[in-house]
Amino acid sequence: MRREDSLSANARVTALTPPDILARKGGDPLVCLTAYTTPLARLVDRHCDIILVGDSVGMVLHGLPSTLGVSLDMMIMHGQAVRRGVERALLVVDMPFGSYEETPEQAFRNAARIMAETGCAAVKLEGGETMEKTIRFLTRHGIPVMAHIGLTPQAVNSFGGYKVQGRGDDAFHILRDAEAVADAGAFSIVLEKVPATLADRITETVVIPTIGIGASPACDGQILVVDDMLGMFDAFRPKFVKRFAELGEAADAAIAAYAQEVRSRKFPSDAHVFTDGRKGKTE
Ligand code: KIV
Repeated sequence: MRREDSLSANARVTALTPPDILARKGGDPLVCLTAYTTPLARLVDRHCDIILVGDSVGMVLHGLPSTLGVSLDMMIMHGQAVRRGVERALLVVDMPFGSYEETPEQAFRNAARIMAETGCAAVKLEGGETMEKTIRFLTRHGIPVMAHIGLTPQAVNSFGGYKVQGRGDDAFHILRDAEAVADAGAFSIVLEKVPATLADRITETVVIPTIGIGASPACDGQILVVDDMLGMFDAFRPKFVKRFAELGEAADAAIAAYAQEVRSRKFPSDAHVFTDGRKGKTE
């Protein structure tokens, strides 16, 4: 661990905590976004209650075809970068595929490493009933856990694609997952891509905040991948993504203008080059 990270982690006295988030059940909606870098974390921190360093970083920043290839070291590196940009929000870091499923002890070892090396206050892991024992073990050993049920992207191969989960009779299983993770001590649950009626029922039933992504406006909070809502990620666009900006298009236009000015020798102009200083000018 870099000393800088360890010291700054200890200095975080004003950030929101997992109990603060738990206390928001049924209150004002929790505003949550992902971030993977320091500059974006600074922007997100001004407006959000929770910043998630999601394993979506693998697809969004590293061009991976799914989240399955994301490693613990990648999550830690991005967690440290985000940590440097966060002052107020609760920082949560995703546990990547393969880092927690074997045993509660494996999950504890890797979660403890994530927390110690990034300064985050909680981890997120995917799975409902099957992760109940692990969530109980982690929370009893000082590791706050955000659960994630419904469409859990690390199980994309088992689902046969990024499909809506919990339709028809499957609703019962997802409800049971929600009750299991709440009972095990998770302080919040992400509900991804489930029918709105099911999300509403879960939100009414469990005592911990639900955070929807493709779920329902009645959830206790909402989360999106920040690059999706800024229009910077184009590989695919789920129905639940609302674009609040088109930064990808703006970046494309800016890069095209730069290329055109370089080719026509319009850039750099006098404003962007240096004199030899003989006229007493200093730059
Ligand atoms: O990895 C991620 O970004 C997530 C959110 C979309 C909830 O899990």
